[in-house]
Amino acid sequence: MCGIIGVAKKTNTEEVLGMLKRLEYRGYDSFGIATDSVFEKEVGEIKPVQNSECNMAIAHTRWATHGSVTRENAHPHSDCSNKIFLVHNGIISNYQSLKAGLKGHVFKSETDTEVIAHFFEEKLKTMDIKEAVKEFFRAAAGEFAIVLMIKGDSNLYALKRGSPLSLGVTKDGNILASDIYAFSDKTQDAIFFHEDEFAIISKAGYEFYRMYDDLEPQKKEITKVEWSGTVEKKYDHYMIKEIYEQPEAIERLQLSLQSAQKEKLENLKEMIKQSKRTVFVASGTSYHATLLGVYFLNQAGVEAHTMIASEFQNFYLVDKDTLIIAVSQSGETMDVIEALHGMKGKGAKIASFVNVPYSTIQRMSNVSVNIEAGQEICVASTKAFTNQAVGLAYLASLFNGGMDFQKVTNSIKHIISQEQKIKEIAKTLKKKEDMYIIGRGFLYPVAREVALKVKEISYIHAEGMMGGELKHGTLALIEKDTPVIALVNGKTEIVSNAMEIKARGGRIIPFTNSDTTLGDPININAEDELSFALAATVAGQLLTYHIAREKNLPIDKPRNLAKSVTVK
Ligand code: AGP
Repeated sequence: MCGIIGVAKKTNTEEVLGMLKRLEYRGYDSFGIATDSVFEKEVGEIKPVQNSECNMAIAHTRWATHGSVTRENAHPHSDCSNKIFLVHNGIISNYQSLKAGLKGHVFKSETDTEVIAHFFEEKLKTMDIKEAVKEFFRAAAGEFAIVLMIKGDSNLYALKRGSPLSLGVTKDGNILASDIYAFSDKTQDAIFFHEDEFAIISKAGYEFYRMYDDLEPQKKEITKVEWSGTVEKKYDHYMIKEIYEQPEAIERLQLSLQSAQKEKLENLKEMIKQSKRTVFVASGTSYHATLLGVYFLNQAGVEAHTMIASEFQNFYLVDKDTLIIAVSQSGETMDVIEALHGMKGKGAKIASFVNVPYSTIQRMSNVSVNIEAGQEICVASTKAFTNQAVGLAYLASLFNGGMDFQKVTNSIKHIISQEQKIKEIAKTLKKKEDMYIIGRGFLYPVAREVALKVKEISYIHAEGMMGGELKHGTLALIEKDTPVIALVNGKTEIVSNAMEIKARGGRIIPFTNSDTTLGDPININAEDELSFALAATVAGQLLTYHIAREKNLPIDKPRNLAKSVTVK
């Protein structure tokens, strides 16, 4: 994972770290910066360093993979003579064998990245940079986006395989970054790197080369990027801001689906009709949205399946008649990208629902729908999940009659109006170590999603499961006062499942639209399944948020996680 920056223009450390801060969602274990005169790295989130002017800089925010979270393992890394500095996002999977070939070099860290600096140090003794880059592309296995800065050289050198990298072209110079948000306040002109590309970047310009058998010069297109949404923060945490934004994000999506993206949706409907099967691929929260997508498409008579991206190739066979729909907030999740590469090879068509425009997954797709949630900053996905689910339900509704967006937003607003009550429940849960969430049918994906939120934000072990599965094992874990959120939509089976827990001393917290004797409920005011599902999800998001507040946890940046998961 990690975020990288390379700046070839007159700048200063404050400006560079400002850009790096926008990539902190990619990891925040440690950070570092190297300029023509400064070299600083530290464990923890990005903090100011002594401000100084420079003509060139590289910077990095880390999500540790190889090597623990220490200053030595933070980037930039350098060679033996501290002449070559570099930042890297990705994993060099054969770094140990490369390292074994670098006799006499002294390594200061435990990382795979440092090997790259020594590799170039060695090669540059006998060849020029282009030859050395060719050697590196041939020798290195794994994924990388790398920016190299060599002392005394006025160029930056950028290499890309697997991990994302883009170039922002400004009137004063050029900026390399893992994603375009880093330079969104500086320019609208972006160039995206393709696979196995190398670029020489200076203040005055850029040259791109593609690694075929040799490095071949490339013409690159400049994309005019339209920025939408704001990152302004008026609340204590981005999480609560993003929870509150949900009704407005749904309205934005509705407008877009019914106007600007109308034709795209019609095309996607045709693609579904012409395919033998539709299969979703996604990870984490986005996977939970696809479970809802499967439910609604199946209800509409369309055969649909979903599989978690990291295990896709082990559990699903695709062919040229399969339509794949990738669902991703970031559009950069490596597990999803890997799965898509495999499927493209088999001739499958690719569609996607993505939040971040111009992202890798969007660019890999034959058709890509923007879910219009606006920039999501908190690591925990809230409004993106909601808009993914709304987008997928809308797609299903094209097969069986329309859908009522207003009912969904009203139900969510009704939940937000119960925040004080949810806060009181949160106080009673803050000391708990385990929690369960049960649901059936369209509420099973919601149970999974609420459990994931509880784990990542309030650090309580939580399991979201099908109500019917309890009796097959998990019931053994229910003790006096074990908290269980029951998602009760008036169906007798789920009420029975909740009663079985109650009979064993468990504490039921019902999220329901019906009268129950199960306990004091969070009232879901929903007339249809989608409204119920999303209202219950928002209730779970608020509950999680308030438990985490009670525990004084770092809500927007939970430990060990990153927003965009760009490693396998
Ligand atoms: C959500 O709260 C999580 N942080 C995580 O599960 C996330 O949904 C997952 O990593 C997939 O990300 P994507 O939607 O950007 O592909």
